[in-house]
Amino acid sequence: MIKVDLQHSGLSIADLNEAKVKKVHEMIINKSGKGNDFLGWIEWPKTFDKKEYEEMKKVASSLRNKIDVLVTVGIGGSYLGIRAADEMIRGINHSDKVQVIYAGHTMSSTYVAQLSEYLKGKKFGICVISKSGTTTEPGIAFRALEKQLIEQVGVEASKELIVAVTDSSKGALKTLADNKGYPTFVIPDDIGGRFSVLTPVGIFPLLVAGVNTDNIFAGAIKAMDELVQGDLTNEAYKYAAARNALYNEGYKAEALVAYELQMQYTAEWWKQLFGESEGKDNKGLYPTSMIFSTDLHSLGQWVQEGARNVLFETVIKVKEPVANMLVEADNDNYDGLNYLAGKSFHEINSTAIEGVIDAHVNTGKMPNIVLEFDKMNDVQFGYLVYFFEIAVAMSGYLLEVNPFDQPGVEVYKYNMFKLLGKPGVK
Ligand code: PA5
Repeated sequence: MIKVDLQHSGLSIADLNEAKVKKVHEMIINKSGKGNDFLGWIEWPKTFDKKEYEEMKKVASSLRNKIDVLVTVGIGGSYLGIRAADEMIRGINHSDKVQVIYAGHTMSSTYVAQLSEYLKGKKFGICVISKSGTTTEPGIAFRALEKQLIEQVGVEASKELIVAVTDSSKGALKTLADNKGYPTFVIPDDIGGRFSVLTPVGIFPLLVAGVNTDNIFAGAIKAMDELVQGDLTNEAYKYAAARNALYNEGYKAEALVAYELQMQYTAEWWKQLFGESEGKDNKGLYPTSMIFSTDLHSLGQWVQEGARNVLFETVIKVKEPVANMLVEADNDNYDGLNYLAGKSFHEINSTAIEGVIDAHVNTGKMPNIVLEFDKMNDVQFGYLVYFFEIAVAMSGYLLEVNPFDQPGVEVYKYNMFKLLGKPGVK
């Protein structure tokens, strides 16, 4: 479901470090590398708790019947994967009964106040998500939204409208949920935030959104079964080794490029996955993203003619659209577009991809790795999650960093807590 094409990257298979890939593969499967206590995601699509999954389905179905809006409250790994899946699978302007909106990823008082205003009089529920259970951003947003919900429906009814996803036993969120009688689902200890979209973190809100999560798991299992080889015949490893080779050639940044607007948050999720996993010890490609055609009309100039040997592109090409539209013939043809009549938007978009790759690679001398995706659906989403997770494990170890920690994220928190006068922080 994902094929890696290196023909526009300036690399051949011989340029990739297959010997090191083989060694790192052994480290991954034997769980002998740095951060190996965070490898729970490797078997998760097959080993997840089926009883908890059935319980989630029940609670989600009951919640779905009671609400029109689900507010998920979370940040980083407790936010991006949900939005990536929802937008890729249901689309942006879908007409499903339940709208999912987001909080806890910003401390903008304007955003929170406007969200609160929007929710007035609406039938809404809250899924609050935090692995640590102590993150400030979702903490203060939840405090405000919980209060509003209780004011709107009363304490008893609110217990059926609030669900927490957090650690099995520790953290303020677990304590709060247990004391207030909110159902909780568990984020496993051995799965880090950015690897957690297939745990209750992503699965519970997606169930409420009516997404077919069985199909997401089916896609992840397919990836698990297909991406097993310990060499460059493994497409995820090929991608990891190619980006590592470009990094070693001196490239500093990789832009994930999608021609599907619905994949904007897939790219945001990917940025966290790669940025937090690799950006340490003063190493790592800077992960950025562009959505074309939008960004062809803003960043396209830089990509074509700006600084060279800094950025390379990884382009996602989707083979088949979930829905298609044709450009119709028009009798007047004032806009002169009849030459496109009868062609589908997808055909035109696909032709644009060829033209842009040619311009960026051959004229602009910008390496392009191409990832071919089948479709933007639930199965593909599960597949891509596993593909990128296994790729980042390989890529991080090729770079000789621990891909599973994020010590740098703590520095700003310490400063913020100190300035805000948090008890116990000096
Ligand atoms: O990858 C990570 O661990 C972080 O970016 C977290 O996802 C983010 O800080 C949210 O943490 P938590 O789920 O503990 O609230």
